[in-house]
Order: sequence, then structure tokens, then C-alpha cells
Amino acid sequence: MPASPAAYLLLHLFLRLTAKTCYECLIDGGQFCLENNKCIGNSTEIKCEKSVDLSINCPSVPALQYAYDDEFVRYTVLPVIAAARRPDPQVCLDNQLPTMKAFKRREANCSSLFSDVKCAGYTGYDETRKLIVLSIRGSHGVHQYYDLWKIGNQNGTIPFFDVGRVTKVFHDNFESLWFGGLGEDLHHLIKTYPDFEIWVGGQTDIQTDNFFQFQITGYSMGASLALITSAYMALTGMSHPHNMKVILLGCPRCTDYQFAMWHSMNFPYSYHIIHAHDYAPRVPFFDNIDNISLYHPRTEVWYNNEMKEGDGYIICEQADQPFCSSQIQNLSTPDHMHYFNMDITRWADHGCPKNREDFKPIFGTHQRIIFEEEKGNSSPVNYQFVLAVITVLFNFI
Ligand SMILES: *[C@@H]1O[C@H](CO)[C@@H](O)[C@H](O)[C@H]1NC(C)=O
Ligand SMILES: *[C@@H]1O[C@H](CO)[C@@H](O)[C@H](O)[C@H]1NC(C)=O
Ligand SMILES: *[C@@H]1O[C@H](CO)[C@@H](O)[C@H](O)[C@H]1NC(C)=O
Ligand SMILES: *[C@@H]1O[C@H](CO)[C@@H](O)[C@H](O)[C@H]1NC(C)=O
Ligand SMILES: *[C@@H]1O[C@H](CO)[C@@H](O)[C@H](O)[C@H]1NC(C)=O
Repeated sequence: MPASPAAYLLLHLFLRLTAKTCYECLIDGGQFCLENNKCIGNSTEIKCEKSVDLSINCPSVPALQYAYDDEFVRYTVLPVIAAARRPDPQVCLDNQLPTMKAFKRREANCSSLFSDVKCAGYTGYDETRKLIVLSIRGSHGVHQYYDLWKIGNQNGTIPFFDVGRVTKVFHDNFESLWFGGLGEDLHHLIKTYPDFEIWVGGQTDIQTDNFFQFQITGYSMGASLALITSAYMALTGMSHPHNMKVILLGCPRCTDYQFAMWHSMNFPYSYHIIHAHDYAPRVPFFDNIDNISLYHPRTEVWYNNEMKEGDGYIICEQADQPFCSSQIQNLSTPDHMHYFNMDITRWADHGCPKNREDFKPIFGTHQRIIFEEEKGNSSPVNYQFVLAVITVLFNFI
């Protein structure tokens, strides 16, 4: 959508004005009509096809200095994500971001049910770019999928500081990894390079052999660990959210309305990117242990195409359903496997070679699975489990 910086700025200013009206309208118990930007109260006589009834969905886009940049994510963030997949992240870094050095890789036990379920991640730094990197690998193998499914379904969400609720299983895994060394390594690097930017990234394994028919309720680890990490770092004072960049790819819902609102209000640069009909970001709607709806924090970037170089995207003016990508009914697993027209797993397995051409998706991304959404009731949303790729970038200015 941001055709030019000037147009983007105008849109931003316009939406800031309407957002104020929208908040006031909702506080007064009305609905805000998006067709004419007017408050329509709650009378059913006035017809409005597109209206907003949650403050989190009042129209707005990030300010110009936090505007989304496709090229940055495509060429600089993806290698950081891919490197987390490897036991030797330096191989990917050498090929793609040669001045970046891996510092330490850590593993932690990440399951109360299985002893072979590990979380892993690495820290790194780049003295040329003035960066510190923290990248977390996502779910790994059948036992971990089962653990996420089981604990995700049975144990619901837990309070996170005083800013809302997050999915418990991810919170547990975040703590295992963070207190298993990653947090300490990051503290060390921040002490050594106090004025460096920090990027934090995480991903799930996107192996096609994990393409089994496994019913799971929208719990994908990399996404949640990244979001929780960004919030944890902000809430413990490691970084101010204004100095962070949060980027999530194919992220499932894992936070309640209050957390989503808090994150949206406090992180000016936070994007979760959705590829076409990717099913993962559309689930789950509901935590049926605690009986609460789950929401995405802002801001959605939706590529309803193959995500090739130069393909367009939408910066969603609303935070979550029923807008932008969540209007789509046909969901897709292949779309979840491929972001930025890359088979990231295969690319990482080969050490992230410079020539990306050989690592385009092998099969088309047009295959769709039909998926019945069960909106707003107490039954969990079932779907085929694949994976999400997630990155959080912390930008210390
Ligand atoms: C909407 O309805 C509620 C209760 O039905 C009422 O208290 C409130 O005043 C109404 N708000 C508007 C803007 O009509
Ligand atoms: C993980 O658990 C195994 C036993 O199940 C133990 O031997 C190992 O030391 C644990 N690893 C960590 C990092 O705690
Ligand atoms: C999940 O909940 C079950 C049942 O309430 C409990 O027995 C179990 O210890 C919990 N597991 C975790 C990892 O929180
Ligand atoms: C959630 O709803 C179910 C079914 O209506 C109920 O059994 C359960 O006690 C509720 N849980 C909470 C935390 O309110
Ligand atoms: C959704 O799926 C149906 C059935 O396969 C198909 O007819 C329709 O064109 C699809 N719509 C989109 C937008 O892909």
C-alpha cells in the first residue's frame, strides 16, 4: 500500500484523525462505520457493510519512520531466520551476512512429556552493522508437535506480567530457553555492545516431511516465543519497545485481547507478515480452557500472491478479524511453507547459498485446503499442522 512516502504520510495523518473519532465512538458504545468514517451508534437501522466494534480495529497504520520495508525483510531478516535452523548458524551468516558472527548456541529441554524435545537458539553480533542477534529455532519433530498440541489444548493461557495473557506452553518454552542461557548471552552482548541494534528471531521447522495429518489447535512455537520475547525484553527494561523491530512471519494467534492491545499500543514497529492463504495466522480463535478469544497484535502485512520480488502487499488498517487476510475462507498449507518465494528449510539445509534461484518453492503455492472455521464458539480450531516462521528484531537506537 505505501506507494510513496508522501502518500503514506498523508494516509497516516488521515487515519490518526479518524482513529480518534473511532475510539470515542466505541467508548460511547457505538460502532464505527468504515465506509463513511462515521459513528453509527448501535441502532440496527443504519446500514453499514464494513464497521468496527473493537478499539484494536480502529483504522490506523504505523508512522512513516516505522514503515514496512519488503527488501529489508527479504534480504536481511530471512538469513537470520534461516540460520537458526542449523546447529552451525555461522554457515548461513557467512554466506548471506558475512560480517555477522554467531556468539553462542543454546539448547534447552522443552517438554514435560518427552525427554527428546529441545528448544534451540543462538546469539550473534555484527560489529559493522552494529547489531546483536538473537534467533530462536521453532518446533522440531513429532514429539514436540504432540507436546505443543497437548499442552496447548489442556493448559490454555496464563497471565503475562500485567499486560494480558499468553499461551502457557509457549511461555514455558520461552522460559526454558531464556533462562537456559540465551537471556544471559544476550545480557552479555548488550553489556559489550551497549549501543548496538538487537535483532531477535525465531522459526519453526518447515520440513515437508512433517506434512502429516496432525490435528492441532494453532500452536506454533516460533511465533509465540518471538512475541513473548519482545514483550519480556520490554517489560524487564532490556530495551524500550520504541527501539525494537518486531517481525513475525505466518504467526498464529497466541495472545488475548489485552496483550494484543498493549503490544499494538507500545511497539511502533511490529509487523506480522501473512503469505496469501496461509492457514496458521488464522488460528486459533479461542482458548477454550480460559474461555477467551485470541487476537493478533498489529500490524498485519498481507501478500496475497507468491511473494516474488516486486509483488504487492497490503498494510492492514485493522488489527485482526474480520479484516484483511482473515476474510479468506480457503486456507493453505503450502502457503505456510513458503515465504518470500523461498523454500527456507531447504535453503538453510544447504547453508543459505548466495544464489537463491535453486531454492524457490518446488511445488506451486496455489494448492488450497478447504477449512471450516468455527468462529467464536468454545471448540478449538483444528487444522493440519505445519509451521510458522517468526522473527523479532530489536532495534536499539
Ligand atoms: C448502545 O446500546 C447500549 C445498551 O443497549 C446503550 O447503553 C448505549 O447507550 C447505546 N449506545 C449508543 C451510542 O447508541
Ligand atoms: C535435559 O533432560 C535430560 C534428561 O531427560 C538431561 O540429561 C539433560 O541434562 C537436560 N538438559 C538440560 C539442558 O537441562
Ligand atoms: C497442564 O494441565 C494439566 C491438567 O490441569 C496438569 O496436570 C499439567 O501439569 C499441566 N502441564 C503443564 C506443562 O503446565
Ligand atoms: C469455560 O467454559 C467451559 C464450558 O462452558 C466451562 O466448563 C469452564 O469452567 C469454563 N472455564 C472458565 C475458566 O471459565
Ligand atoms: C476457494 O475454494 C473454492 C473451492 O475449491 C473455489 O471454487 C474458489 O475459487 C476458491 N476461492 C479462492 C479465493 O481461492
